[in-house]
Amino acid sequence: MNFSWTLEQARARGNKRWNTYRDGILDLTVAEMDLPTPPPVLAAVRDSVDRQSFGYPVADEDSGIPEVVSDYLLAEHGLAVTPGDVRLLPELMRGISQAIVHLTPAGTPVVVPTPTYGRFFDAIAVAGRAAVEVPMQACDDGYRLDLDRIDAELAAGARCVLLCHPGNPTGRVFGAAELAALAEIAVRWGARVISDEIHAPIRYDGVEFRSYASVSESARETGITLFSATKAWNFPGLRCGLVAFTNEADRKIWSGLPRAAVGGMSPLGMRATVAALTAGGPWLTSTLGFLDRNRQTLARELPREIYRPSEATYLAWVDLRGVTQDPVRRLAELGVAVSDGADHGRGGAGFVRLNFATQPGVLAEALHRMAQVW
Ligand SMILES: Cc1ncc(COP(=O)(O)O)c(C=O)c1O
Repeated sequence: MNFSWTLEQARARGNKRWNTYRDGILDLTVAEMDLPTPPPVLAAVRDSVDRQSFGYPVADEDSGIPEVVSDYLLAEHGLAVTPGDVRLLPELMRGISQAIVHLTPAGTPVVVPTPTYGRFFDAIAVAGRAAVEVPMQACDDGYRLDLDRIDAELAAGARCVLLCHPGNPTGRVFGAAELAALAEIAVRWGARVISDEIHAPIRYDGVEFRSYASVSESARETGITLFSATKAWNFPGLRCGLVAFTNEADRKIWSGLPRAAVGGMSPLGMRATVAALTAGGPWLTSTLGFLDRNRQTLARELPREIYRPSEATYLAWVDLRGVTQDPVRRLAELGVAVSDGADHGRGGAGFVRLNFATQPGVLAEALHRMAQVW
């Protein structure tokens, strides 16, 4: 498998990644991989270009994608859904805001275990709701949900929990028992759990992944599952997300929503999704090896007090609280751009998020520059 992708090639993509900062700054922010596109995805997109497939997409149920996705979710995430339970979306953030608006009681706040993906707060604001942060509890093996506080917030009126599973930025894969306990709390309050599982295919060390909605009957009833091939197979600009329902009432409400609410997929993204989920396995396996080598480099080069390799994602969550004031600015001065931990919720201040899905030489140079900080 060819993993070589020079910075010149990365810049020539003309995207936000590598075209935001001035020359010389190593950008470890945007969550994309500096790798060639997976061959099956590229072939599908090239074929679509040859056939000039640039029109409006066919209806979800005529696209063949729900069949592919339901097979994939059962095989890889233990989630049993029929093709009829799967719907397409242009992007997951739209799915989150629409699910909050249409599938949770009007006006109720949304519980967000943090640190989490910063755009969750935007999606909740777009839905016109208040976000209630419940910081996760840091423990030896990463972060755990604070189930007592989630319970208390649901008792106080919240009716939705927005989960990032695996976690961005923490890389935490929640265990089945922890998720089942969350489901019992949710079902008791008539609350919903929206589980964003976009990072699920990117896992290390054989860590098992179970979709939230797969862990119990209560989880099936309360869960709304969001997934996409765009992150793990690296085509986020092609716009194709997925939602899987495990609750008949949700499916009915969703099928009545207008295209302005849930439409806007790109036919190229749809073809790429099928290619990734049906033929992208070998590429993903090799890529996980590539990412794991970078993850090991980080574990070797960063002091253990500030970085612990996570179970999933290609994001490193680095604790610089005791090391430097204003770490984002300090690292920018050294020529490394990273994401501010504070964007991921309270408790993220003093941390930075670093994308390690880059070429080993770029990572080595970034670590060399960063080493001046500790
Ligand atoms: C947890 C999570 N969800 C969703 C997204 C973005 O998905 P989309 O572009 O489909 O909204 C990202 C991107 O980094 C992410 O980390």
